[in-house]
Amino acid sequence: MSWSGLLSLLVPCLLSFVLLRFSALLDPGAAVPRVKRSPPLPLRFRHDGAFKILQVADMHFGNGAATRCRDVAPEVGGARCSDRNTTRFLRRLIEAERPDLIAFTGDNIFGGSATDAAESLLRAISPAIEYKVPWAAILGNHDQESTMTREELMMFLSLMDYSVSQVNPPGFLVHGFGNYHVGIHGPFGSGLVNTSLLNLYFLDSGDREVVDGIKTYGWIKESQLAWLSATSKKLQQNLPAPALAFFHIPNPEVRGLWYTDFKGEYQEAVACSLVNSGVLDTLVSMGDVKGVFLGHDHLNDFCGNLNGIWFCYGGGFGYHAYGRPHWPRRARVIYTQLKKGQRSWTEVESIQTWKLLDDENLSKIDEQVLWRDSDDDSYQSVHL
Ligand SMILES: *[C@@H]1O[C@H](CO)[C@@H](O)[C@H](O)[C@H]1NC(C)=O
Ligand SMILES: *[C@@H]1O[C@H](CO)[C@@H](O)[C@H](O)[C@H]1NC(C)=O
Ligand SMILES: *[C@@H]1O[C@H](CO)[C@@H](O)[C@H](O)[C@H]1NC(C)=O
Repeated sequence: MSWSGLLSLLVPCLLSFVLLRFSALLDPGAAVPRVKRSPPLPLRFRHDGAFKILQVADMHFGNGAATRCRDVAPEVGGARCSDRNTTRFLRRLIEAERPDLIAFTGDNIFGGSATDAAESLLRAISPAIEYKVPWAAILGNHDQESTMTREELMMFLSLMDYSVSQVNPPGFLVHGFGNYHVGIHGPFGSGLVNTSLLNLYFLDSGDREVVDGIKTYGWIKESQLAWLSATSKKLQQNLPAPALAFFHIPNPEVRGLWYTDFKGEYQEAVACSLVNSGVLDTLVSMGDVKGVFLGHDHLNDFCGNLNGIWFCYGGGFGYHAYGRPHWPRRARVIYTQLKKGQRSWTEVESIQTWKLLDDENLSKIDEQVLWRDSDDDSYQSVHL
């Protein structure tokens, strides 16, 4: 993208951010100038009954063209490889897959290599904005290592064009920044236009903490789990729809998937927190979450099942992130399809996933069905 192109994206976003902060300082009650371009809301299934999510894990964006690639084969590496390769991969995926939503699951920027956090984020996310694809982001453990705090980053992400990200749910006091729900409604003309048929939960898994003098990774706190359970309960009273969750740092039980029949590659130790706050137990008790999508460990791209819930890594996406030469950078697609009723689309019938590699063919690998309506006795069908 040219500088003028980047600037035309940058200026309105930065302006709204600056204005928001200023107006909040001057008069907390003042009307906020609204220049954000928003996708049509609520998000909804397409007319063909499908909704496709592209998970982008660990872009590790730095300063763009000046930021070198890590762990690429010598023949494609060196001076020719930079953050621009990460952007090019994202553009290719959007063109090929036409996702309905992009989920950026943290370490979107690599703070230590980003001179200006806002500029780095804008560049990293720019393909989504350019193609007007709705997107949601959460933070990893590296996003805040530049010029913005986690709160500022989430605020900024929520103000960017086509973003459906939120800082935190209104009316709840929750730990962290970037805990929110996004409902995917039925298609127009389906009778379910006002109903969420698929619920997406985004959670902040933190960065780093010290527990009893020991350094460890962050974890999802009690207040976040309380919000999650309450939200799920409320949504299910309305309609028992399946749900997907997204967070960056895996919960400790993911380590145990090594001993199971997982699909994909498990090439490095799961780097989770020492603290187990009961994320898995909470998800199991909620009953609606069928799949959890993680980032953080770039060399892991597997899906494994724990107590009936799938835990899937996105696999490393960014070229400035550590990886492995000759093991292509990759992204995950989550494809959900509605059931055809007698007159129109009804509830979600299946949830599938696969990965796409940044090779010449954008190769599709490890396709699997995560869930089907009939698999699950606890799920009550609605008949319309
Ligand atoms: C990065 O992009 C450049 C320019 O398009 C290309 O020549 C190079 O092979 C790419 N590197 C990788 C690792 O994909
Ligand atoms: C959806 O909500 C709109 C606005 O409240 C209402 O006009 C419409 O009738 C509703 N449609 C259905 C199918 O419930
Ligand atoms: C891409 O597809 C072509 C044609 O099918 C094949 O010859 C080539 O080996 C594929 N490349 C990769 C990296 O899979």
